[in-house]
Amino acid sequence: MSLVGRRRWCSRWWLVPVPLLVLLFGVLSAAQAQDDPGKGLTIGFSQVGSESDWRTAFTEITLAEAERRGINLIYSNADNSQENQIAALRSFIEQGVDAIMLAPVIETGWTPILREVQAAGIPIVIIDRNVTADESLYLARVSSDFVFEGRLAAAWLAQATSGECKIVELQGTVGSSAARDRQIGFNEVISLFPKMEIIVSQTADFRRPFGKQVMESILHTEDPTQICAVWSHNDDMAIGAIEAIKEAGLDPGDDILIVSVDAIPDIFLAMMQGDANATVELSPYMAGPAFDAITAYFNGEPVPKWIPVQGGIFFPDTAAEEYARRKR
Ligand code: AHR
Repeated sequence: MSLVGRRRWCSRWWLVPVPLLVLLFGVLSAAQAQDDPGKGLTIGFSQVGSESDWRTAFTEITLAEAERRGINLIYSNADNSQENQIAALRSFIEQGVDAIMLAPVIETGWTPILREVQAAGIPIVIIDRNVTADESLYLARVSSDFVFEGRLAAAWLAQATSGECKIVELQGTVGSSAARDRQIGFNEVISLFPKMEIIVSQTADFRRPFGKQVMESILHTEDPTQICAVWSHNDDMAIGAIEAIKEAGLDPGDDILIVSVDAIPDIFLAMMQGDANATVELSPYMAGPAFDAITAYFNGEPVPKWIPVQGGIFFPDTAAEEYARRKR
């Protein structure tokens, strides 16, 4: 087409049939949606709290990812209270959000509020920890496999101790799927080794100061020379335990092995100092897949019920590298 012809065509665009324009608009918006998935959506995010470094990183990454995508994220920190989370979800419904993300503090007790969310026609994604509610009540779940994390930690410990070890277990928040499933996975593996046993198991609520306090009291009630390892459901409690072990005049990472979960920067620092032995990674990058699932839902695309995030296990040999890569 000549330049004159092209100009004439452009100046007469209004002659293009309406259905064709609608189609063109649809194609252009779909292309735009692919470039900026979720742009313009308002999403309510109910977060557990800020009990650990992992949680803080997860929150920061989620806020940054929302901003990057042009999502209006309404963030609510529940301070480890299910009641606060339920109130936040009700307030999201009242505000008429497009979608909700829920990182539940505990597993049970969600069915009634999930029904309210569903009745309001709002898709909800469960992120990180799990709920026991019926799958039909939520759009998808983005999470790691906590049972697998526990198995991985135990498999490493079994190999490091030739299957003979008296273990102190520091549990995460009671009633959370992260604590329950990590315990199940770990116990499943050590049950294969008759000389591996948990001698004490106590909760420290995924918090560093509690990890220290609980370990201090265990070091008083148990014979410390009999403790072969601390298995901690997260790195923060392990770091608290490391402090207690050092203050008791023992050498963590050597006298007492330390294996935990999360792969936060501070555990790599501890490894660099010879104080920790292994960490199972829990990726804090869950918001991206959750936003993708919500966008897919609004585009009428199928969304899998479980969207797993992958992790690995890390040791002191790569600690310096991992620390440099992860520190924020
Ligand atoms: O639910 C995941 C757990 O919650 C993390 O392992 C822990 O650090 C956190 O606070």
